Amino acid sequence: MTIQNNKNMNKVKASAPGKLMLFGEHAVVYGYPCIVTAVSSRIYVEVEKNNEFKVDAPQVKDLRFVEETVKLFSEKYQVDNKILIKTYSDFSSKFGLGSSSAVTVATIKALCKLYEIEISKKDVFDLGYKVIRTIQKIGSGFDVASAVYEGTIYFVTAGKIIEPLSVKNIPLVIGYSGTKASTTKIVKDLKPDLKIFDEIKQIVEEAKMSLVKSDWKKSGELMNQNHKLLQELGVSTEKLDRMCQVAVSAGAYGAKLSGAGGGDSMIALVSPDKIKMVESAIVNVGGEIIKVKNNI
Ligand code: PMV
Repeated sequence: MTIQNNKNMNKVKASAPGKLMLFGEHAVVYGYPCIVTAVSSRIYVEVEKNNEFKVDAPQVKDLRFVEETVKLFSEKYQVDNKILIKTYSDFSSKFGLGSSSAVTVATIKALCKLYEIEISKKDVFDLGYKVIRTIQKIGSGFDVASAVYEGTIYFVTAGKIIEPLSVKNIPLVIGYSGTKASTTKIVKDLKPDLKIFDEIKQIVEEAKMSLVKSDWKKSGELMNQNHKLLQELGVSTEKLDRMCQVAVSAGAYGAKLSGAGGGDSMIALVSPDKIKMVESAIVNVGGEIIKVKNNI
């Protein structure tokens, strides 16, 4: 680690991507693996030296993520917090694409640039995860890791394993169910079921291989199986089930809810020639298509 006072750069920018959980949600909170992919939509943070600490972040739903990041960063690296922070976003926080973890990671990266501090990706993850845990008290950290490492990663709780996977252009359709869910509440309310978590782990391990081989058919089947297990855990909704069901009927290889459930979004793995049909099917049952690219 190197620290210098940055005399030349008074204003810097950094960004981090949103994410989509592909396989393994909920089980990953209890020590199991998951697979998550970053999307092309990003959150941008601009930091400049100022005479006081000020945050101008209209798109951030909870400013504590920015404030806590600055607090922990300035304590750890012994820098002052007289800065003005502005944020910009490609996506709305309502979609559940991980805006809190993306803004946390982008803020850490911007502060590193401003104060010319070089830290490793793992250090960015550890600090970002600490911020998320301080505020939410709960969570595996998969979203922080996705914002730091980008691409598609295999991740085990709290960053015990963070393994980038060589997966390209996963053909995904994303449908927003129209209701925002509280991840914290759903995670807290969930009754852990180790038998189901073991089955989810098997799916994650198989998906790790099928995704790397670009075997979308197999990966789609695994998504259907994963969704069924999430239904058994009680975190799906009628709307999400319906959206997944019509996506598969319209020709998707497979579909599942993505994230905590209780609302938010679903994903479907779809061959490019069937995308239009799957999208219409989702819209016809009241879903909203979110246009983002994955695998950046
Ligand atoms: O709702 P999201 O997209 O933030 O995903 C939550 C995923 C969980 O596994 C349920 C929680 C976690 O922290 O891993």
